[in-house]
Amino acid sequence: MSVNKQIKKVTTNTLLRLKVNGEKISMITAYDFSFAKLFDAAGIDVILVGDSASNVMAGHESTLPITLDQMIYHAASVIRGTERALVVVDLPFGSYQSNSEVALASAIRIMKETGAHALKLEGGEEVVDSIKRIVSAGIPVMGHLGLTPQSIHKFGTYVVRAKEEAEANKLRSDALILQEAGCFAVVLEKIPAALAKEVTESLIMPTIGIGAGMHCGGQVLVMHDLLGINTEFRPRFLRTYLNMAEQVTGAVKQYIADVKNNDFPNEGEQY
Ligand code: KIV
Repeated sequence: MSVNKQIKKVTTNTLLRLKVNGEKISMITAYDFSFAKLFDAAGIDVILVGDSASNVMAGHESTLPITLDQMIYHAASVIRGTERALVVVDLPFGSYQSNSEVALASAIRIMKETGAHALKLEGGEEVVDSIKRIVSAGIPVMGHLGLTPQSIHKFGTYVVRAKEEAEANKLRSDALILQEAGCFAVVLEKIPAALAKEVTESLIMPTIGIGAGMHCGGQVLVMHDLLGINTEFRPRFLRTYLNMAEQVTGAVKQYIADVKNNDFPNEGEQY
């Protein structure tokens, strides 16, 4: 199955229906108008304006530095390029952790200033008050468990999470807490496939995996990884669909050569 052409506009209800019908959810990150337009036209179900923009767009080592204003800029650009997909925006580090009032204020800013359809935030029980408050304001929330990059300094590394029973148990319990708090879906990042399968089967809401195996209700990848723009990142879970780095480098080298050799522009390319 590729694109479900019957879906005119993907909503949070659509995702639940896809899970019930046994159809997988496709999700990709985007940070600008042009790529969002291409992904939307290709038929992607969900576009995530991830705080991974901090890494892949701004060149930071982690997702921590990106600000709410910067996320709003990226999200508004993506929304302008999207007609069909559900657009989910990450609440950046520092915009929701202090208390639920701050979290709701950040959430409202993103919804008002970008036109986004839903938000994502990282964590389980620790952030449940914020999730409840945002959901009760009518804003759909996607959870994120497992490897949560905003806590990288707590973890110390980007290795697979929840391999130990205690952490796996917390993840099982957090997933249910998020569902009860009103989340419409949850991202499971870099956890064992067997645990992701168990959690997926225990929930009504869909799970969306990244490095969490084949049993999740859907999959998400960062566009720079999927398209081969970022060549240094090669984890086991990544499938690269294009070697864009090589293609872009080749094209730009050709352009440089054509300019240097007085081959571009030619007679037909001038006024
Ligand atoms: O910010 C991001 O790109 C994400 C995905 C890795 C799920 O949260």
